[in-house]
Amino acid sequence: MLSARLKEETKAAHQSLEKAMVVYIRKVQTEEQYVRLLQLFYGFYRPLEERIARYVDDSIMPEFNSRAKTGRLLNDMDNGAADDNILAVDLPVIESLAAALGAMYVLEGSTLGGEYIAKMLASQSGIKDSRLSFFNSYGNKRMEMWAGFIETINSYGNDSNISRQVVDSASQTFLKFKSWLIAFYTPVEAAVLPFR
Ligand code: HEM
Repeated sequence: MLSARLKEETKAAHQSLEKAMVVYIRKVQTEEQYVRLLQLFYGFYRPLEERIARYVDDSIMPEFNSRAKTGRLLNDMDNGAADDNILAVDLPVIESLAAALGAMYVLEGSTLGGEYIAKMLASQSGIKDSRLSFFNSYGNKRMEMWAGFIETINSYGNDSNISRQVVDSASQTFLKFKSWLIAFYTPVEAAVLPFR
């Protein structure tokens, strides 16, 4: 099954991203820091979702439109706090349906970890449910939405060439998101003066 292969072949990349991300999530104590965390996701997800939408629609992926995460991020940032000048440029290359599905695997899978992140943010920083729509994502429909996604992914798994492209794109997406995370939280002075 392509889904099992995706999980297996991106396991290390997921662990590495999760480990790096938990550090920053734990630091979120204030509203301002929460909005910054959302901007981290917005900066990567928004341009990536635009690229994915060139290849995927409702006829390919059930409930494609309601899976979009950019709108949820905007809702949670409140009052138009999103900054369109802070967007990732080094994104996975999406030039086929297979590559789009691989990147989407990473975005959809993040709803599974989102459940834990939402709980952390609610308890440590007191963020209200109405501002956690991105991390809470589909709420009690989470596993149903994940099952629908996986079913579609597996329907593309018979072609080894396509499977390879889906897995490569998912791996690339994990790696690039982690690079974006590091760059996003690295103070400019430290980046310019590494030996200070
Ligand atoms: C603190 C951060 C995170 C935590 C604690 C976390 C935790 C989890 C957990 C508990 C699962 C379910 C594992 C299972 O049922 O086998 C999961 C799955 C997944 N997560 Fe994360 N995650 C985090 C961040 C992320 C991020 C940022 C992404 C992507 C942008 C991501 C992508 C995925 C994917 C693709 C899966 C599905 C794996 C599969 O194929 O079953 N995760 N995560």
